[in-house]
Amino acid sequence: MGVFVLLLVVFSLRFAVYPVQSTAGSHAAVHVVYLGHNNALSPSLTSQSHLQLLSRVFTKQSEAKQAILYSYSCGFSGFAALLNSTQASTLSETEGVISVFRSRTLELHTTRSWDFMGLNLHMQIEQSSQTHLKFGDDIIVGVLDTGVWPESESFRDDPHYGPIPSSWRGTCVEGDGSFDPATACNRKLIGARYYLAGIESELGPLNTTGGEEYRSPRDRVGHGTHTASTAVGSVAPNASYFGQLGLGVARGGAPRARLAVYKVCWYRDFTGRCSDADILAAFDDALCDGVHVVSASLGSSPPLMPLFATSTEIGAFHAMQRGVVTVFSAGNDGPDASMVQNVSPWGLTVAASTIDRRFPTVITLGNNASIVGESFLVDEMTRRLVESSSVFTDGTCTFEQLMNRTAAAGKIVLCFGTTGGVSSEGAALAVYAGKGDGVIFADSISRKTSQDNFWPTVHVDLNQGTQILCYIRASRKATVHISRSKTVVGKTPAPAVAYFSSRGPSSITPHILKPDVTAPGVNILAAWPPKSSPTMIPLDKRSTQWNFDSGTSMSCPHVSGIAAVIKSVHPTWSPAAVKSALMTTAYMYDDTSDVMLAGGTLKAADTFDVGAGHVDPLRALDPGLVYDAGPRDHVLFLCALGYTAAQIRQLVLPVPSLDTSCPHGGAAMAGAADLNYPAIVLPDLGTTVTVKRTVTNVGPNRAAVYGVAVTCPPGAHAVVWPPELAFFPDHGGDMASYYVSVTPTKLSRGRFDFGEIVWSDGFHRVRTPLVVRVTNLPDDGVRAAADDGYYSEAAV
Ligand SMILES: *[C@@H]1O[C@H](CO)[C@@H](O)[C@H](O)[C@H]1NC(C)=O
Ligand SMILES: *[C@@H]1O[C@H](CO)[C@@H](O)[C@H](O)[C@H]1NC(C)=O
Ligand SMILES: *[C@@H]1O[C@H](CO)[C@@H](O)[C@H](O)[C@H]1NC(C)=O
Ligand SMILES: *[C@@H]1O[C@H](CO)[C@@H](O)[C@H](O)[C@H]1NC(C)=O
Ligand SMILES: *[C@@H]1O[C@H](CO)[C@@H](O)[C@H](O)[C@H]1NC(C)=O
Repeated sequence: MGVFVLLLVVFSLRFAVYPVQSTAGSHAAVHVVYLGHNNALSPSLTSQSHLQLLSRVFTKQSEAKQAILYSYSCGFSGFAALLNSTQASTLSETEGVISVFRSRTLELHTTRSWDFMGLNLHMQIEQSSQTHLKFGDDIIVGVLDTGVWPESESFRDDPHYGPIPSSWRGTCVEGDGSFDPATACNRKLIGARYYLAGIESELGPLNTTGGEEYRSPRDRVGHGTHTASTAVGSVAPNASYFGQLGLGVARGGAPRARLAVYKVCWYRDFTGRCSDADILAAFDDALCDGVHVVSASLGSSPPLMPLFATSTEIGAFHAMQRGVVTVFSAGNDGPDASMVQNVSPWGLTVAASTIDRRFPTVITLGNNASIVGESFLVDEMTRRLVESSSVFTDGTCTFEQLMNRTAAAGKIVLCFGTTGGVSSEGAALAVYAGKGDGVIFADSISRKTSQDNFWPTVHVDLNQGTQILCYIRASRKATVHISRSKTVVGKTPAPAVAYFSSRGPSSITPHILKPDVTAPGVNILAAWPPKSSPTMIPLDKRSTQWNFDSGTSMSCPHVSGIAAVIKSVHPTWSPAAVKSALMTTAYMYDDTSDVMLAGGTLKAADTFDVGAGHVDPLRALDPGLVYDAGPRDHVLFLCALGYTAAQIRQLVLPVPSLDTSCPHGGAAMAGAADLNYPAIVLPDLGTTVTVKRTVTNVGPNRAAVYGVAVTCPPGAHAVVWPPELAFFPDHGGDMASYYVSVTPTKLSRGRFDFGEIVWSDGFHRVRTPLVVRVTNLPDDGVRAAADDGYYSEAAV
């Protein structure tokens, strides 16, 4: 395919409006109609009720039957159907309907899928313990992603696996024949399904020509194979990139856990796209199949929709009620504030951090001056070196400014990010389009991610870039030699928050800390389909089973794997307890290396960058205390979101003696701040506020005494009472509550400040972030009432 054709496809698709395939009316689009839990009805009865409901907005039942794409009837109740706007609004006003929303297209949280280099596998998580190797056999992790390459070493069968857990009710499906369940599925890969009714209705039919996509669980994109092997991949001793680089042992966070694959994302525009309708279908099946952990590295950038009009949040809500932990990626929209995605309290949201590895790359100019930049180059190269203005009309390295199709042929082009505000991947794409061989990219800040690695790109700083420019201008025929990148481990402060990682606070539920934790997400080596080349450089007939990729997509499955190990060691723990264990044992790190604000000031990583901190798998197995949350906690949270008691009864699974009523007035708001979350965020502190938390002793000793240490956020005073929590097996058991009163001590209107509450029994350290924004100064004379800042979704 010609380069220009390919690029035009990339550029035009980004803005294209996709025609919606319609069966009823010219404006029919895929909508999700969500109805809450399925009230313990059989799936077939539930599906019948869906058809009845849908028939109300069609003249004939046969039309309704034709319009329906999915009936969600096992894990929860709802359906996806092609509806026009009149039908959608009629249904949304029908009694018993919680929400009707247009199915949207979500994206994978990888920075890109062709990331092609890196050297050494090195994961923090790997160092901590052998526990991961022993546990997880009984745990099933469901990965919602782009499918799987089942022949990968990460998913091979192995005599040490016991029989498939008897609770498993899932299956492996064949699809178009590109995936043979008989050989693909085994005691490791125990389930594989795929969903494409939604995506095909929304974006048109898939292109399956020449292996462009497979209508089966087989992975075309590579992302799903990568995330699945990061979460649960078996130990693979000889992982490397093209057999040359990064030789080492690859394995997942829970290498013995079982894998169930739900393919919901499909190859489009060189990445994977996923439809809400398909994602809900996968959750519906996964919950009935019997997975214990769901891992989903996907989402949609803000503005965020109400929680119960978002497929991932609905799925995670019902997962939580069934004891299933759902782990999400936070998104790659950093470093600006409030861009975090997947923000419900029942999901676990993971930010991305670096590891202590860099890839210095030596650039030698024709005058023998040498400069150390950073890249991921496998092959050295010597080429003509030109400045951008000889290739791009006004010197801006963009596709639009390219002089002609061969303007950069055989050359390496020096591009400045500061000229026209271009990104390194934009510059790499533009130089690639002009048949150039590579880019030296100079910018004021290092945003080194793997997005530009599909084409040789060396990053340098502005100073170095200027030096190179002077050389080019001073010589008649400038040349450059670029050496292969090297790996340096342990010389860089790490972890640091990744530039791209989406930051908090949550834009719709600011009382809930998001992201929750951080984990490695930069240049992670994991399994890859050998048929999907990670780079655009022709690789002869070479192929790779392994690849480096970056994104919160990669940090999410690390935590999914750890959650699987925790579930294996502590099978009775609720999703809230698992999340609490991960959060209260996470560590904060000092980080001034990566985030630079617009004014050039360095900023240390804070709680909105990394949540409670970097996960520590070993400590998470023995957290001492956990913040658990039960059905009543969720009822109160839903009250705070504005749902009525009737709606709440439809959402929260009935359990004996569950009180589904909402408290009156201001108490509803307290429900949100008081949700027993392992972090306290007070986004609108005008006057003293008191919140309550309850901890459960899960330590090895049932008798224990914990003392508190409080670090107040600047500008507020926090008092914890009682200052000591005693647990006696004979007296009232394993739970104890405490109160935190927070009072502003400054006049302010807007900045978030960070503190912490740490409980300790001398051995365990239970750390709870305390985040406060004091808002007691009038804002241009207009001051909102203190409690009005709370978002209400049911009213939307
Ligand atoms: C939507 O479809 C229904 C049933 O086919 C039809 O009666 C109605 O006129 C349509 N509305 C619009 C706005 O197209
Ligand atoms: C489908 O993929 C094939 C193989 O890459 C390509 O040649 C063809 O142009 C694609 N078709 C469409 C409609 O994009
Ligand atoms: C790993 O690779 C090395 C060197 O190529 C080889 O000697 C060894 O047998 C391989 N080990 C496995 C388990 O494949
Ligand atoms: C650069 O170094 C090489 C090898 O040391 C030498 O042959 C060459 O003359 C030098 N070039 C310049 C411009 O100094
Ligand atoms: C394309 O642009 C380059 C750089 O300006 C120039 O040298 C070359 O002659 C141009 N080629 C064509 C076909 O116009």
